[in-house]
Amino acid sequence: MSSDRFLLAGVMGWPVMHSRSPMLHGYWLREYGLKGAYLPLAVQPEGLPAALRSLKPLGFAGCNLTIPHKQHAMSLVDEVDEVGRRIGAISCVVVRPDGSLAGSNNDCYGFIEHLRQSAPDWRADAGPAVVLGAGGGSRAICYALAQAGVPEVRLLNRTLERASALATEFGSPLRALPWEQRADAMEGAMLVVNTTSLGMVGQASLDLSLERLPLQAIAYDIVYTPLMTPFLSAARARGNRIIDGLGMLLHQAVPAWRAWFGIETRVTPQLRALLEASL
Ligand code: ATR
Repeated sequence: MSSDRFLLAGVMGWPVMHSRSPMLHGYWLREYGLKGAYLPLAVQPEGLPAALRSLKPLGFAGCNLTIPHKQHAMSLVDEVDEVGRRIGAISCVVVRPDGSLAGSNNDCYGFIEHLRQSAPDWRADAGPAVVLGAGGGSRAICYALAQAGVPEVRLLNRTLERASALATEFGSPLRALPWEQRADAMEGAMLVVNTTSLGMVGQASLDLSLERLPLQAIAYDIVYTPLMTPFLSAARARGNRIIDGLGMLLHQAVPAWRAWFGIETRVTPQLRALLEASL
């Protein structure tokens, strides 16, 4: 790599100052001895079109997108890949050599990669998965599980219509069930994932009986503030393996670096410890 290259990327969000992404990407810039910067970009919704178009003239390789831009940005970039189109949201924009903008969604990669690294013996075809919640996070995860080959994804959401709509859109293996049936839905499941905001700091905890969940099942929460949610601590207390939400954030950044900078990064225990200490 030429020594005069200055790597530029950032995360567009509103609000954005709570984002851990600058810390994560800043770690890799230091770790690999690179000149560059990864910036929090506080972009209001009405400013998103101009902000995206300014990436190229400012010399950015691309950016990540966070709340509330993931859906709107889809209609503003020049091309959205298959994964982004299916999920209906993009988390990453790449400025191509001709200046055009390519959108993709790395959340589903982050989710499944963290699962595979945390539980190398996990097999998609081992049994049903239960997904709680039907918002943006859930869409990426349901897509990831369907792609991985999970035979049945039981989707439960407080608002049943939202789960039904997603199940209809994605088709098999998704199956929408009423929120009231969540305790029964644990029967025979090999994986249960919380994608709702329940359990997050300042929110009520997820009210879920795990009595019928097999002990071999993995409990996965995409919430990472706090790292140990009430759902995960209940699952751990009864002997289930647990996976927290921080790794999903870390792993989704790997394909972003590959696309922006052509650099293969690694999620190391040191990187994780740095972010953990900030939570
Ligand atoms: P994200 O894009 O981060 O997934 P979202 O689209 O706002 O966020 O979705 C939040 C999810 O948490 C939804 O599934 C929501 O359920 P509804 O579709 O019924 O709104 C769920 N959620 C939020 N608060 C909840 C609560 N008190 N009880 C049950 N589910 C809740």
